[in-house]
Amino acid sequence: MRTYLKKLGSASIVAMAVAVTPAFASGMVTGADYNNGKSIFENGKGDVPACSSCHGATALGDDNLGTPRLAGQIYQFLAKQLDDYANDRRMDTTMFVMNANAKGLSEQDRKDVSAYLNSIGRVFTGKQLTQTSGGSDLAALKENGVELGVSHLGKALVNYGDTARGIPACLSCHGHNGRGVDPMYPRIGEQKFGYLVSQLKKLRDGTRDNDVMAQMRVVAKKLTDEDILNVATFLTQAPQTTMGNSRIPVEHLP
Ligand code: HEC
Ligand code: HEC
Repeated sequence: MRTYLKKLGSASIVAMAVAVTPAFASGMVTGADYNNGKSIFENGKGDVPACSSCHGATALGDDNLGTPRLAGQIYQFLAKQLDDYANDRRMDTTMFVMNANAKGLSEQDRKDVSAYLNSIGRVFTGKQLTQTSGGSDLAALKENGVELGVSHLGKALVNYGDTARGIPACLSCHGHNGRGVDPMYPRIGEQKFGYLVSQLKKLRDGTRDNDVMAQMRVVAKKLTDEDILNVATFLTQAPQTTMGNSRIPVEHLP
């Protein structure tokens, strides 16, 4: 431990004390400029508007706009999505803005903003890192007349799938409570409810088809409307932590 700390040097130890520590970002992130990414997120670049204007000041997404949470999302996954929008491999059929946004950024900009997004939302509480929840407020959605599903039924599908209908457990790819698996399986836990529903429907009807080897479309095609509402209701409130252990697993630390 002592040599480890020595190797880090005093600058990194100081950095550990502040909320966001780019030096400690996921091991998969190399050659990204966080400051450029932060600037794009907060101010936009050229004709590209600030990402925060739609994805929220802390990148937790917005159910009223249908935008996803980006904070703490897997770096490689974010960079892939932005490349896919830039190359029209994925079409934004929600607001028809993301293809132009991604085209307005260079490949390096897309990496930079992905690295920044991956690092945000992580805060030190005492000696341990926790993440802001940021899932949807289900009671508020219900009050607004949004149809919700049944959380425990969604949980069963996420954890066990449904063998009789050939549906694999979501956690077999997306990890426990959908907390994401580097580098290609996105975090779907604590994602916004509306976004989860819209993407599962798009993947089911094929209007979104940028998943490699149709891995996700194959699953989505087997889901009923009810299944989709059930998994989204569970996932939006599913924490990254494991039951009885308030720490986030080490591979999810920045
Ligand atoms: C005018 C609103 C708006 C702005 C500004 C905006 N976005 Fe988006 N973004 C959206 C919408 C809507 C979606 C969902 C599109 C879809 O259904 O494919 C989205 C989706 C995404 C996704 C896909 C996430 C996932 O989980 O698959 C990424 C990544 C993303 N945006 C990044 C950015 C970045 C980076 C910026 C700033 C450069 C930005 N967005 C600016 C509205 C916006
Ligand atoms: C065989 C592996 C696999 C299984 C099982 C699987 N997924 Fe996925 N899923 C993926 C991959 C890969 C992607 C990313 C596709 C891409 O790169 O665009 C994805 C993407 C998604 C997305 C879009 C995320 C975003 O931010 O845009 C949602 C939502 C999702 N999956 C939900 C589920 C649910 C719910 C289940 C269980 C019913 C499930 N997945 C089971 C592989 C899987």
